[in-house]
Amino acid sequence: EYKRRKEMFRAHDLAAKYYHHILMNTDAGLPGLQYLESRGITKTIIETFQLGYAPNDWDVLVKFLKKRGFAEDLLVEAGLLSQSEKYKGRYYDKFRYRVMFPIHDGQGQVIGFGGRILEKGEPKYLNSPETPLFSKGRHLYNLHRARPVMRQEGRVILLEGYMDVIMAFQHGMPNTVAALGTALTNDQVRLLQRNVEEIVMMYDGDAAGQKAALRSSEVIKESGAAVKARVATIPDGLDPDDFLRKYGKDAFVRVVLDNSSSMTAFRMHSLRKEFNLGTQTGKEDYIKEVIHKLLVQVNSPIELETLLRELSEEFGYPKEALEKELLLAKKSP
Ligand code: GTP
Ligand code: MN
Ligand code: MN
Ligand code: MN
Ligand code: MN
Repeated sequence: EYKRRKEMFRAHDLAAKYYHHILMNTDAGLPGLQYLESRGITKTIIETFQLGYAPNDWDVLVKFLKKRGFAEDLLVEAGLLSQSEKYKGRYYDKFRYRVMFPIHDGQGQVIGFGGRILEKGEPKYLNSPETPLFSKGRHLYNLHRARPVMRQEGRVILLEGYMDVIMAFQHGMPNTVAALGTALTNDQVRLLQRNVEEIVMMYDGDAAGQKAALRSSEVIKESGAAVKARVATIPDGLDPDDFLRKYGKDAFVRVVLDNSSSMTAFRMHSLRKEFNLGTQTGKEDYIKEVIHKLLVQVNSPIELETLLRELSEEFGYPKEALEKELLLAKKSP
């Protein structure tokens, strides 16, 4: 068992080096290099993140790893190869025609990959399956690299995608991680909470991203983790990578990062979609929902004051009325 895992680690390490070598030093890697250049990624960053390229070929990795004595069934279990359904003795590379993003565990060992297709096609990102080394809900992309800075700054920025993390790093923000394509899990919250006091969630500015942010705030809240969390929203449906390339770092910090909302404020704003605020009853129902569901849970008097003032100003109710409603909510939960 232990020996098998060790073999899988070694296979991943070699595969990452091989994909990286193909990207940097061979003609077969040119499409990948051109792709990364077209996205504004520098050579230095390619090195830092050990990016690679899997050519449009069936068996380059099969050949490479077989020559080094690995058994095919182990490589299939490790998620690096696939077995042909039709010809059981046939194996082929799982990742083909993709830019490769190695995923590391907390100790910095490669445990899986994300592979981005160069053109349009499905899936856009192919990730390693669940394997003895890799479980997508238990790891975070870039954690091992970000951790020292996370500890130093006491803060992490949680982004959606590989490219977002890489672009943030390239713009001098090394304390970012990404959950691997799914909603945040309890395990991931714990990984973060162990290293920082504050999580800033920064999901894509599209509808899917905003939904994911809402879901992730719920996960953080329900996890009961002793960590502060805020939500930063990116305008115009952009994601962090888009925004940084379009407007640069200063605008990113000013417009996005420094404008984050408390989780409650974010939830309060998200709730609006569920009510018809154009009608009087819609407004009242919304305000009651905000008070009874969200504001009752706010412990900080300062945060509460800000939220109540915002509600009061926007809907034209005196703050005293809202405070009375809150008192009621606290008495009868
Ligand atoms: P780019 O188009 O390269 O900028 O990627 P993106 O990160 O902006 O993509 P998107 O916002 O669509 O997705 C965010 C993250 O979700 C990605 O970085 C992946 O980790 C994951 N993801 C995206 N598409 C897929 C997919 O087709 N399959 C899986 N499993 N994960 C995906
Ligand atoms: Mn190199
Ligand atoms: Mn998206
Ligand atoms: Mn995106
Ligand atoms: Mn993107």
